[in-house]
Amino acid sequence: MLEIIGILGGGAMGRGIAQVALQNNKSVIVYDVMPNAAEIIIKHLTVTFDLLIGKAKITNDQKNEYLANLKIVDSMQKLADCDLIIEAIIEDLQLKKTVFEGLSKVLKSSAIVCSNTSSFSITAIASAYKDPSRCLGLHFFNPAPVMPLVEIIPAYQTDPLLVEQLKAEMTQWKKTPVVAKDTPGFIVNRIARPFYSEALRIYEENLATKEDIDLAMRQIGGFKMGPFELMDFIGHDVNFSVTNSVWQATFYDPKYKPSLSQQKLVEAGFLGRKSNRGFYTYGADSNVQNLESTPMEKLKPIFDRIITVLINEAYDALYWQLADPEDIELAMTKGVNYPKGLLAWGKEIGLENIKSRMDALHNAYKEERYRCSQYLSRYSG
Ligand code: NAI
Repeated sequence: MLEIIGILGGGAMGRGIAQVALQNNKSVIVYDVMPNAAEIIIKHLTVTFDLLIGKAKITNDQKNEYLANLKIVDSMQKLADCDLIIEAIIEDLQLKKTVFEGLSKVLKSSAIVCSNTSSFSITAIASAYKDPSRCLGLHFFNPAPVMPLVEIIPAYQTDPLLVEQLKAEMTQWKKTPVVAKDTPGFIVNRIARPFYSEALRIYEENLATKEDIDLAMRQIGGFKMGPFELMDFIGHDVNFSVTNSVWQATFYDPKYKPSLSQQKLVEAGFLGRKSNRGFYTYGADSNVQNLESTPMEKLKPIFDRIITVLINEAYDALYWQLADPEDIELAMTKGVNYPKGLLAWGKEIGLENIKSRMDALHNAYKEERYRCSQYLSRYSG
């Protein structure tokens, strides 16, 4: 039984994961290097639990019980009794490896040691731990208490039994676990790239306005937000850095090449909603318009192009066996709220249609970026 959960890093993700574990009646120990960590983390969680009491989601007794099960510690040594460790410190590979090396001297041999990294190789992080067979990726989505998906990523060295054990544990935590190969971006952050990159490309080529691109994806696709609204919401620093890291980690596969216009926003500090300006402006000078008047015949080709490249990417993930088909569908619906699984969506549109649209893009641009997945080339006929 995994009873004592150790969390390294009490930032946005670490706190969220701590909340999930506490609400599943676990004992949670958090270690963070920031000054006043205990005060800050306990305050955050208290405010969150009070909000949940206000919404009648938990009782006051439950809040007290959760807080009694929470310990904030000031040294890694105090994680010695943990059964499951989830590392959620800042995204810095060298620092993560140093932490895993440090944990080697502290943890019992039966501990399971996970990283919540979004972009680094789990195999590389695991290599720093005394027994890499005990290490995995356990990738939650933000905000962790709200988003059901968790990607479980065995490292090259991981004992396969641990994958099953962690899957069962996450199901108990009422999460939706999917298993992903240790490849750049895992499932969600890889397959979702074209949602942003194709939108940016259409915008940079001046084929449509950002408003029309957003509208097309919302109105025809049923996505909750269009790509530009969503990038502004996520933050361009975060979104650009994920794209950049997937691109670099795939040895610069042109499919994932970052966009210059997004880089400019990052350079300018126009990071999206959090800085009141991104592609749109927010606050008093808001220029967010919800014009719903663009004719369908103008929106349809925009939607067709973006959904085609997305579906091609999902089938490519299937071709390279990055995950089971059911997990690919779950990942996109439960991790980023897509209205439908992309594999099923592809079948609805017709795989031959997706293939011929990809071939048309490839013919028009003569760019590697638009290569049709081998899956579609082989099996769509
Ligand atoms: P954050 O910056 O909010 O929190 C990081 C925390 O780690 C800070 O409180 C910092 O004081 C602490 N820290 C730094 N070095 C430490 C060390 N050596 N030992 C213990 N604590 C240390 O970052 P955030 O957003 O919570 O991200 C954490 C991890 O989760 C990163 O690997 C990130 O890539 C990943 N992630 C982030 C998501 C997001 O949307 N923010 C989504 C999924 C994964």
